[in-house]
Order: sequence, then C-alpha cells, then structure tokens
Amino acid sequence: MRKIIVAIDGYSSCGKSTMAKALAEYAGYRYVDTGAMYRATALAGLRKGIITDDEIDEEKLKVMIENLKIDFAIVEGKQHTTLDGEDVESEIRTLEVGNAASRVSAIGFVRVKLVELQQRMGDEKGIVMDGRDIGTVVFPKAELKIFVTAAAEIRAKRRFDELKAKGKEMKMDEVLADVIDRDYRDTHRKESPLKQAVDARILDNSELTREEQFETIKGWFNEARR
Ligand code: DC
Repeated sequence: MRKIIVAIDGYSSCGKSTMAKALAEYAGYRYVDTGAMYRATALAGLRKGIITDDEIDEEKLKVMIENLKIDFAIVEGKQHTTLDGEDVESEIRTLEVGNAASRVSAIGFVRVKLVELQQRMGDEKGIVMDGRDIGTVVFPKAELKIFVTAAAEIRAKRRFDELKAKGKEMKMDEVLADVIDRDYRDTHRKESPLKQAVDARILDNSELTREEQFETIKGWFNEARR
C-alpha cells in the first residue's frame, strides 16, 4: 500500500491531536503537531522579551525565527517538542503560551517559516499532521484531509475537564468564552484563517466516542491509501 499524507484540521479542543496520534500509531506514520511549533516559537519570543503583553517586536522576531530550531523527540514513548534541543513540552502547554501562540500565528512571516519546515517534514510522506491550515496551505494535495468539528459547549466541557484534571479550576462560562474567542480569532485572521478544504471529509465528533471516531477515520485512511 502506498504511503500518504494525512492532513487534520479543526477548531481548538476538538480532540484533533488525540485522533491524529492514534492514526499515526495505527499506520506506523510520523505524527506532527503544528500547534506545538507555533507554541514553541511563542515561548522563545516570550523568554527573550520579544513578545510582551502589549506588543510583539516583529523585527527582532524575524531574526529570532531564522535561527530557531524546533523539533520533536520521543521521551518514554511520547512525543515532546524541543526548542534548540531543550525539552519544552510542558512549558508550551500553559494558557499564557497558548495565547502568545495565537498572536504569533497571525503574523505572515512566522507562518511562511513554519509552513516551510512542515512541508519538508512531509517530503517522504507517511505523515499525519494536525493544525489549522494543513489541508488548505501546507499540503493542499494531501491524499486524505479531515476537518474536525464539535459544538463549542462540548469542546468547552472537554477543556474544563482537562484543566480540572491538571488541578486548574476555572469557571465553565470562562472556558466557554475562551473557546468562542479562539474560534473567532482562528477563523477571522488575515493570514491562513481556519477553513475547511473543499475536498476535506468532515468529522463532527460532538456525539461520538473516541472508538467511534477512530473507526471512521481508520476507514477513510484505508480507502485513501489504496
Ligand atoms: O492547536 P494549538 O492550540 O496547540 O495551537 C496553538 C495556536 O497556534 C492556536 O492559536 C492556533 C495556531 N495554529 C495555527 O495558526 N496554525 C496551525 N497549523 C496550528 C496552530
């Protein structure tokens, strides 16, 4: 069977990465979390003071990004994001870095640089990549494109449970407001807004269990690689 590229896009907190990882494992493919790459870039900018609460120094960011080494390493069977060789996996998952990532991801030259890196990762195919623009910009010719969606209330509940499990208590209406806010920013930004590729398969997982979702995408995958 031929090796293919699987592009998975969708809203935040809709379980894209869990699904993408499971599919990559099933297929024996490489998994790439592109959100982690935007997060790592944001972390580097925050650490250097290039990104502050009220502004981003774009000139300095441009220089920084040219010399940035973002990669992935396997630690105890799990994929960890590295920044210049340092394991930053837990540091990039905070709300602060997530918000900074959302701001840097709207800058054109940041996207050009990271998209270039992502396209190189797909040179050999055999890859499952998730993000917001994978099927539309990074791999417009991907053999399988999946667009994942779920109702905002359901995604908010999932994020609420996740945060709670990590010991972070937040109010449900705050989490929902954050989800709605991010959806708006992701779909309305000028550079590569989140949108469904015309040839993407849509997976609304509001009412599906993980197993049901996996069965669906496994079927699509096996069909696409034939
Ligand atoms: O999926 P995530 O929450 O880890 O993504 C972090 C931020 O990066 C989010 O605001 C959307 C942005 N992003 C993007 O613009 N393009 C991608 N391919 C992946 C993520």
